[in-house]
Amino acid sequence: MKIMIAGASGGTGSYLTQEFDKNENELFLTYNTSKDKIYRTKNAKSTIFKCDFTKSGEVETTYSKIDSLDVLINVMGTVENNLVSKMNENEWDSVIASNLKTVFLSCRYGIRKIAINGHIINISSILGSTGMIGATNYVASKGGVEAFTKSFALECLHSRKVFVNAIALGYFNVGMGLKLSNKILNIVKEKIPLKEFGEPEEIGILVKYIISSRYLVGQVIHLNGGLRV
Ligand SMILES: NC(=O)c1ccc[n+]([C@@H]2O[C@H](COP(=O)([O-])OP(=O)(O)OC[C@H]3O[C@@H](n4cnc5c(N)ncnc54)[C@H](OP(=O)(O)O)[C@@H]3O)[C@@H](O)[C@H]2O)c1
Repeated sequence: MKIMIAGASGGTGSYLTQEFDKNENELFLTYNTSKDKIYRTKNAKSTIFKCDFTKSGEVETTYSKIDSLDVLINVMGTVENNLVSKMNENEWDSVIASNLKTVFLSCRYGIRKIAINGHIINISSILGSTGMIGATNYVASKGGVEAFTKSFALECLHSRKVFVNAIALGYFNVGMGLKLSNKILNIVKEKIPLKEFGEPEEIGILVKYIISSRYLVGQVIHLNGGLRV
């Protein structure tokens, strides 16, 4: 399979790269600022691109170098917390751009390359449905990703028979999940019925299920250890 991991330099993207590092796969991996964090494949053929997905020119150029894809996984994202009453315009704009505009632009240019019966998966967050004090910009961006996914899924089905879905992650032992302070980590763990963060293997299992399906369309699948049911 030809698989694009947009945001391969993050914890989750790097894990997914390892998971798909198989001889039969060709991987297209992107970073924005952290090239050194891209996992170097041992088996799969891979190409690495520098791309800021908030910039349409860079996104268009990146996809112009790819002939075709079976799977596109949009993993990029960022957080910049503040209360709304204290949040400046830049904190709002940059998070909405990094989490929502990136998905729009990646889908806008990526869809042209995806083969019939191919898949797009957008990575969202449980916070897109629950909300969180101090993370309203992030919450709004992920709610936007989920609404975008549903609407775009219908467009893609009509025009190209490409399956678009989203995964809303709870808290995981990877990427930004590892950057929480101990205090927050313990508060969150206490709220999770399973009392522990998810392992990235769970994300791999779900991604593989989604791309094996020819009937799952426009869904936001929650993976959160019971934190929200
Ligand atoms: N880990 C969790 O517990 C958790 C929970 C809920 C949701 N999520 C979601 O899962 C996804 C992956 O998160 P993660 O935990 O792996 O975070 P991470 O380690 O911080 O990785 C974030 C990735 O996004 C990329 N990125 C950010 N802004 C970008 C831009 N403008 N253009 C291109 N790439 C950009 C980063 O690239 P560079 O580093 O190269 O700049 C990096 O590859 C995110 O959408 C996040 O919201 C994660």
